[in-house]
Amino acid sequence: MKRTLVTSALPYANGPVHIGHLAGAYLPADIYVRFLRIMGEDVKFICGSDEHGVPITLRARKEGVSPQEVVDKYHAQIKKSFEDFGISFDIYHRTSEKIHHETASDFFKTLYKKGVFTEESSEQYYDEEAKMFLADRYITGTCPNCGNAGAYGDQCEKCGKSLSPKDLINPHSQLSGKTPVLKKTKHWYLPLDRMQKEWLEDWILSHKQDWKNNVFGQCKSWLDQGLQPRAVTRDLNWGVPVPLEDADGKVLYVWFDAPIGYISATKALFSNTSDPADWKKYWKDENTSLIHFIGKDNIVFHCIIFPAMLKAHGEFILPQNVPANEFLNLEGDKISTSRNWAVWLHEYMQDFPGKQDVLRYALCSTAPENKDNDFTWKEFQTRNNSELVAILGNFINRTLVLTGKYFENKVPDAVELNSSDTECFKAIKLAIENISRNIRLFKFRDALFELTDLARKGNKYLADNEPWKLYALNPLRTATILNISLQFSAWLSYLMEPFMPGSAVKLRKMLNLNDRKWTELTNESILKPGHSLGTAELLFEKIEDDIIAHQLEKLESSKNQNEVDKSLPDFKTSTSFDDFQKMDIRVGTILEAERVPKTDKLLKLLVDTGLDQRTIVSGIAEFYKPEEIIGKQVSILVNLEPRKIKGIESRGMILMAEDSNGKLAFINPHGQIQNGSVIR
Ligand code: 2FM
Ligand code: ZN
Repeated sequence: MKRTLVTSALPYANGPVHIGHLAGAYLPADIYVRFLRIMGEDVKFICGSDEHGVPITLRARKEGVSPQEVVDKYHAQIKKSFEDFGISFDIYHRTSEKIHHETASDFFKTLYKKGVFTEESSEQYYDEEAKMFLADRYITGTCPNCGNAGAYGDQCEKCGKSLSPKDLINPHSQLSGKTPVLKKTKHWYLPLDRMQKEWLEDWILSHKQDWKNNVFGQCKSWLDQGLQPRAVTRDLNWGVPVPLEDADGKVLYVWFDAPIGYISATKALFSNTSDPADWKKYWKDENTSLIHFIGKDNIVFHCIIFPAMLKAHGEFILPQNVPANEFLNLEGDKISTSRNWAVWLHEYMQDFPGKQDVLRYALCSTAPENKDNDFTWKEFQTRNNSELVAILGNFINRTLVLTGKYFENKVPDAVELNSSDTECFKAIKLAIENISRNIRLFKFRDALFELTDLARKGNKYLADNEPWKLYALNPLRTATILNISLQFSAWLSYLMEPFMPGSAVKLRKMLNLNDRKWTELTNESILKPGHSLGTAELLFEKIEDDIIAHQLEKLESSKNQNEVDKSLPDFKTSTSFDDFQKMDIRVGTILEAERVPKTDKLLKLLVDTGLDQRTIVSGIAEFYKPEEIIGKQVSILVNLEPRKIKGIESRGMILMAEDSNGKLAFINPHGQIQNGSVIR
């Protein structure tokens, strides 16, 4: 039997999943896999979290936690949101698992022993204080292109230029703030230049016809530029350690270990079965098709580097296809995690409970299959209201309600089919062929269009035949029309399965039908006359304007926040509750205020703290006149060590809010409250 192994890109476990990820690598894969399953084929669907790499270590530093804590948190969150959404992985694994470390390590050793790698020493920036080589992202400096003082060692985010750390003017380490020094370090390289000539180029060119144009085109342009050796190790302490004697402080490059994650996840899937070696059938047997679903930024890794690794290893099959999607934009703007310009999957699930299929439908309809595409909430609403509700849902609902009304909720008999009846069966047969062909060609939008079009035909059949008018005159013909409409609905319940699995199940329940493979559906009439139906429910519900307006507002507000964000200081690393508790913050009233002579900024205040009266010197003279603030309540840190300021002993600190322009404002209690009240 034909066997297929489907993988979706392993998401980095340093943030949640958004609709761009879904549309790119997860939804199309899920549709494909569900289709193969329903065709009765042997398929396994593999994914997991990508838990290594520099960004995870950076996030850990920023949050003041360990990298393991970062990946534990996001792995759990991502896994759950995929589950809730109904992405039907056979396994969702993670690259911090032991079996993955072993598999990746062995893979490297095999290549090393075969003499595949070249070894090279080069000079790289080193932080003498942190005693560490610095990954590109750990170095900032001035961009030689635009003068931005906060450019990273790999890219300037202001002008977008790709950089290497040595391009930066006045580089400094993100770890210690010090200027890093250049130091020699050894790494292992995959000689892609040699492989290109030996076989890689021919292999890629052999896929000109069956790979998507966007994928083939990108590969071709890499080949045309000439592939360069790629380092597969890094100086870092987070990742799979390089399994060699002289490699302390070095790990496998994240893009070396992550795709091996597909292999280790497959192993893990079979590890508790009667035959744990079965994973090999999916990776080592030429009768298996290996298909990688990814977004376009991952093309080079899946079409060039990973195949190069697999071939060099020698025991593995190569991917048969890599149906990468382009990018999905949101409301005309690039989706951005840092700007919070995204629809997050876990938030969608909260805001639209039970509406997984609506998002699946909307995303599949606008999937960026050949070029970047745009998701808008307005279109999401239209797809739901004008297609799912008005066509598919309406057809099903009328069919079921009328059958309940005229035929005691039992499938009536069909007699004397006319040409409009037989046309229905022809349309179904054609739709099955077109949907199947398009899915096998990774044209999911076209496949879904065929499904919607079929529902439209069913709806039209019912509208044209008007059984609700006919019943009084011709119950026999009415019976036939509803029989045909019910057969139509039954077919739809199976054909919907890959695209909208939840609604397919719901519909089958209404029709009182079992799950079946498409290949078992040999009779064009699925429902026998007399078959009792279940209870009719609405398959889809209208989405009102205010719901859409709310989503748009939510996006807009994140945009407004973002504009201010850039000039505000970053959050400090986290603090413990105990440390916070050490601060004694109270409400007090300003009793007296006067300027401190010969200063611009300072006021000398006498405050009533409820327990005492004390002097505090505060740098607020630019923002408040003494006479204005007498009698005002403020927040005071009362247990700050006394300090002498301009010869005056200041006992405590008035707490102030400072905006991004340096303007200060008091933090007042809301309404009058007793002096000495504790702020916590
Ligand atoms: O781009 C990404 O999100 C990567 N974490 C994808 C890895 S895919 C595979 F190679 F594991
Ligand atoms: Zn720049």
